Amino acid sequence: MIRFAVIGAGRIGQVHARAVAGHPDAELALICDPFEENAKKLAEAYGVAYTLDVNDVYASDVDAVIIGSPTQMHVEQILGSVKAGKRVLCEKPVALDLDEARRCQEELGAEAERVMMGFNRRFDPTFADIHRRVADGEIGDLQQFTLFSRDPAAPPAQYVAGSGGVFRDMTIHDFDMVRHFLGDIVEVSAFGTNTIDAIKEAGDFDQAVVMLRSADGRVATVVNSRTCVYGYDQRMEAFGSEGALSADNLTATQVRKSTAKATEARPEILDFFLDRYVDAYRIELSAFIDAVKADGPVVPNVIDGVKALEIAEAATVSAQERRTVTL
Ligand SMILES: NC(=O)c1ccc[n+]([C@@H]2O[C@H](COP(=O)([O-])OP(=O)(O)OC[C@H]3O[C@@H](n4cnc5c(N)ncnc54)[C@H](O)[C@@H]3O)[C@@H](O)[C@H]2O)c1
Repeated sequence: MIRFAVIGAGRIGQVHARAVAGHPDAELALICDPFEENAKKLAEAYGVAYTLDVNDVYASDVDAVIIGSPTQMHVEQILGSVKAGKRVLCEKPVALDLDEARRCQEELGAEAERVMMGFNRRFDPTFADIHRRVADGEIGDLQQFTLFSRDPAAPPAQYVAGSGGVFRDMTIHDFDMVRHFLGDIVEVSAFGTNTIDAIKEAGDFDQAVVMLRSADGRVATVVNSRTCVYGYDQRMEAFGSEGALSADNLTATQVRKSTAKATEARPEILDFFLDRYVDAYRIELSAFIDAVKADGPVVPNVIDGVKALEIAEAATVSAQERRTVTL
């Protein structure tokens, strides 16, 4: 049984706590959040202990720590947990600042391969199926890769101001997926626009399109929006020399309706990450637990986190300066 602490009792901390509590080889032991109301609420939901002080996590007897605190805290808490001998699964991104993320990787040394980053989309059963089938050669040589990722509603401007910008906060998931499918990226062209005044005033884009070229010359396109009137739009297309594999949005049922007003209408798509990626978080946790049990490395890890952040940084410069950036 692997004993876990969850640091950060917010939206994603709650998702992880639920996954840990539901896993047969895991035991949720401790919740940590400096805001007592948040810590207490989540701890009480699972009948476990809580603390407001992260040092109590380091000093505790837990085997593993899941970090779901605000991004600014990630590096300090990764290093603190690893120094205390804990295995770590940390939410994306590693840091807001690329230099800080690189410092984290450097300080970790060989441990960087053992710290998992929460790029949950790699573990989504639909996307993982496409990845496996591409690798099996079902569509010949993969030539183009396209991702649509649109959030149902924009976060508050206050969140946006501290988020590091859309490319580090949101598109980072897509950058990791592009690397997962195409390997390392050498060229980035990003375009950002605004439809939401509050986000523009916070100095960020709320719509973005990014084109990327891989080291072996293949291309990818990522389309992002902070808002989407029909919900959480998460689609993928892999196009190859012998065909294409694509995944549409998931709905709660497969039922389609045809009436005088609509034909082939489907139910609403699953709304936002808590519902859309519930399986991905569960499978991600299982992959982490397997690595802990085997006392081995894990993928995606801090090295992947730093590489995704390098792309995010390049995309930010590209969109702001309206030029292509070479990595
Ligand atoms: N993988 C995903 O799908 C996904 C989804 C959402 C968020 N995230 C990432 O998870 C992180 C948290 O995002 P969120 O949406 O859950 O935020 P949130 O604001 O909902 O929750 C953050 C929690 O951390 C607590 N906190 C603040 N300072 C802390 C500290 N020093 N130590 C420990 N806890 C502290 C807050 O009280 C709050 O309870 C971010 O890095 C974000 O990028 C990942």
